[in-house]
Amino acid sequence: MAKIFKVGVIGTGAISRTHMPGWAASPHAEVVAGSDVSATTLSDWGKSFGISRLTSDAADIINDPDIDIVDVCTPNMHHAPVVIAALEAGKHVLCEKPLAPTPAEIEAIIAASEKSGKQVMTGQHFRFTGSAQALKAEIDAGALGDIYHARGWMLRRNMYIASPTFVHKANSGGGACIDIGVHILDLTLWMMGNPKPVSVSGTARTELARQPGQFSRLRGDLATPPDWDVEEFANAFVRFDNGATLMLEVSWLLHHDTASEDMQMWLYGKDGGCHWPSTQFLSANLDTRQQYNRTLQITANTMEPHAAECIAFAEALANGAPSPVPPQQSLQVLSILDGIYRSQEAGAEIRL
Ligand SMILES: NC(=O)c1ccc[n+]([C@@H]2O[C@H](COP(=O)([O-])OP(=O)(O)OC[C@H]3O[C@@H](n4cnc5c(N)ncnc54)[C@H](O)[C@@H]3O)[C@@H](O)[C@H]2O)c1
Repeated sequence: MAKIFKVGVIGTGAISRTHMPGWAASPHAEVVAGSDVSATTLSDWGKSFGISRLTSDAADIINDPDIDIVDVCTPNMHHAPVVIAALEAGKHVLCEKPLAPTPAEIEAIIAASEKSGKQVMTGQHFRFTGSAQALKAEIDAGALGDIYHARGWMLRRNMYIASPTFVHKANSGGGACIDIGVHILDLTLWMMGNPKPVSVSGTARTELARQPGQFSRLRGDLATPPDWDVEEFANAFVRFDNGATLMLEVSWLLHHDTASEDMQMWLYGKDGGCHWPSTQFLSANLDTRQQYNRTLQITANTMEPHAAECIAFAEALANGAPSPVPPQQSLQVLSILDGIYRSQEAGAEIRL
């Protein structure tokens, strides 16, 4: 069967490479072209994946009538202009997280999507892990009852990407909050059923990053981070319109006991609680006064989640189904993250 959707990738750096196995495995989509402002990055990528239509000008991809899906993998600050131009040119768009660093840009993306009738998906790959899919199915089946509180954290010890894409605000739009806060927050809100956030009290701080000799164990070419202008740490207390609450903590640099990163979530409902990524569920029978713990059996998910998100998008488009990660949900996420920055500045809780 011929593949239906032709994909053009804009930004052929590190993360775009994780999408390629997904497009290749999808029965509905194939990558036909790529664009990057770095000639070396682009030609290495073209050689790796056997793609010969390569251009330094993203407009060549956006305006190519053969292309149906634009896969945006540029630094965060370049997302919104590229996504909006692609929508206006009649393309569907998969865009890496965060969809954009500010709520205003996401509102503009939503307006462009509604006007063009084309779909947008944010690349929130953690939703496509086997553990998250299993947990979500159980929660949607009612295992927790009404969820009234959640805790989520993504804490790293000396682990930030020391490249301008991440630590220069002109490229990233923010630090740990925007980079990894977006992951655990998206996942937690999705599990909670995306209630509407109404207020945020939080802090966004740079406490360790500028210490002489500070270092990262992740990739990157900046030897030390003193010239970065983003936060390394953020936390928040969030209230939702249904009365639920959430506590969030994120850091790239924390004296925290973890070999690499500690990413976890707890959800508490009236009928039970649960934990991710363990998929443990806890509840109690009030008649017998017995406590119950059970852990879900995860059927092996062989597809790496970045690849799985590409497959899910092509599948949704082929079936006329809604976007698996719609921009309206990313707007909620970024409203909270933006609220953290505003709360830090105001030294007070912010109404959203
Ligand atoms: N989901 C995840 O796990 C994950 C992990 C890392 C990065 N990301 C996201 O992916 C995006 C890219 O991150 P990365 O790690 O691949 O960074 P990267 O620096 O490796 O790659 C970005 C590429 O975009 C190119 N570029 C910049 N402006 C461009 C433009 N206007 N047109 C075309 N190309 C342009 C750069 O030359 C570079 O090759 C970011 O939004 C980041 O938040 C997601």
